[in-house]
Amino acid sequence: MTPGIPGFAPRFPGVTLERLQSWLPTIITAAVVLVAVVVALVVASRLLRRKAPRAHWYLIGFPLLLMRMRHSWRHLCLNAELTGTDRPTAGQLGPLIVKGRPIMPVLPLLTRIRPRSFGATAVILLHPGQIPEPFVNAAEAMAHAWGVHAVRVDARLRGRVRLTILNADPLTSQRREATAGSTDPPRKPAAVTSHPSNTTTEPVNRPVAVPADLAAEVGHREDGQRWVIDLATFPHWLVTGATQSGKSTLINAAIAQWATRPMALVGIDCKGGMELAPHAPRLSALATDRAEAADVLAALVSETQRRMRLCRQRGARNIWQLPPALRPVPVIVIVDELAELYLVASRADKDEALRATTNLLRLAQLGAALGVHLVVAGQRVGSDLGPGVTALRAQLAGRICLRVNDEETVDMTLGDLYPDAVEAAQQIDPAVKGIAVTTADEAGWIRARSVYLSPEQLVAAIVATAHLAPVLPGLTPPGA
Ligand SMILES: Nc1ncnc2c1ncn2[C@@H]1O[C@H](COP(=O)(O)OP(=O)(O)OP(=O)(O)O)[C@@H](O)[C@H]1O
Ligand SMILES: [Mg+2]
Repeated sequence: MTPGIPGFAPRFPGVTLERLQSWLPTIITAAVVLVAVVVALVVASRLLRRKAPRAHWYLIGFPLLLMRMRHSWRHLCLNAELTGTDRPTAGQLGPLIVKGRPIMPVLPLLTRIRPRSFGATAVILLHPGQIPEPFVNAAEAMAHAWGVHAVRVDARLRGRVRLTILNADPLTSQRREATAGSTDPPRKPAAVTSHPSNTTTEPVNRPVAVPADLAAEVGHREDGQRWVIDLATFPHWLVTGATQSGKSTLINAAIAQWATRPMALVGIDCKGGMELAPHAPRLSALATDRAEAADVLAALVSETQRRMRLCRQRGARNIWQLPPALRPVPVIVIVDELAELYLVASRADKDEALRATTNLLRLAQLGAALGVHLVVAGQRVGSDLGPGVTALRAQLAGRICLRVNDEETVDMTLGDLYPDAVEAAQQIDPAVKGIAVTTADEAGWIRARSVYLSPEQLVAAIVATAHLAPVLPGLTPPGA
């Protein structure tokens, strides 16, 4: 009988040295094949990732993430104290009531994990007695445990929290094609519209705005959706950002879209008109210093009062309820550098500033229903600009905070509405321009990045739409 391998025989009595030698070529071949398959898989995965990142994500990335999430869920819940219990956490020990952590905690259910183009979404079902706050606080722990860019926790649903898992930072990646340079073609001007609910109304021989015209797509959000500034949802917007953070670029993207629609654009640019001058052919008025701004804003206040009378006569609560033949064009007032309206150096300045800022505030208070909207941009918005600025801010429900240098401006822009967004805004990477934290109706707030239009693209968009600039009562178009 052939002797077994010393020390090996008791466990594998049939394995002899000769047999092992005869298997050796098969074992080596199997190992080589295995290594070759693994290498081929890695190379194929890398190629797929480069050539078709979306397919790679659905075929390889997401299944791996799913495994990681399932595998780490228990540890994550225990370490981040996300567990519940179905036993009492206090008990009687003799004459004492003793409180403690349950020995057998119950994990909340992580369910509905679905792949998305930007990463994944999932839902956590809470146990009775659990509140969403620890889950919001554990967002960073989840991102680390699952090796993803970020996890956003939406705690507005009852009894559950929804997770948005972002695979990578889509705002710093090169994937910009979605909206780059996408401006709508100008709408055909001859639309003869009759109002469906008012058949006695004369047909209108001019394009008539509809509420959908108020939405401008200005970039993309970190959840992969389009970033839309919609004046129908939030009638007025505040945009803050340090110099060179991307305010004008964002405004350009919005104007390029609104310019294609039957709307009036009014510029208030007290930096001598440097920022808004390229838009002049499409503007219905452009103020380049504070005195002009005060006049333009006063004329717009008179226009809102005229619209108010019109609505009252017709029993309409806003311009959208007026018949198309009577409906005035929506007006969007763009203020670039708010501080220039507020800061005063002399007594004469003070009266002028008061006139301009009071009219701006009146527009903010009256304008929404009357089709007058504000988009107000500034490098710094702080209480030192005067008490009026806080009153104005209260009317600007849409907020966009680009990279800013001082804490007060972040607080002023986001702190009153979205305290949890303040930190996100402070962490905006100065190296990547155009990133902002913005109001998002269904998500509360979200990070987003504007699309960049080159000066040539912007000029082309403005020239193509210059003929659509309406003349507003009491205002002279620039260059007229
Ligand atoms: N979304 C973006 N993508 C790429 N580049 C951008 C983006 N936004 C801004 N930039 C770059 O940053 C530069 C400065 O942007 P912009 O002029 O919009 O800043 P700003 O906030 O208006 O500055 P200022 O307060 O000095 O007027 C632009 O010329 C452009 O090169
Ligand atoms: Mg600017």
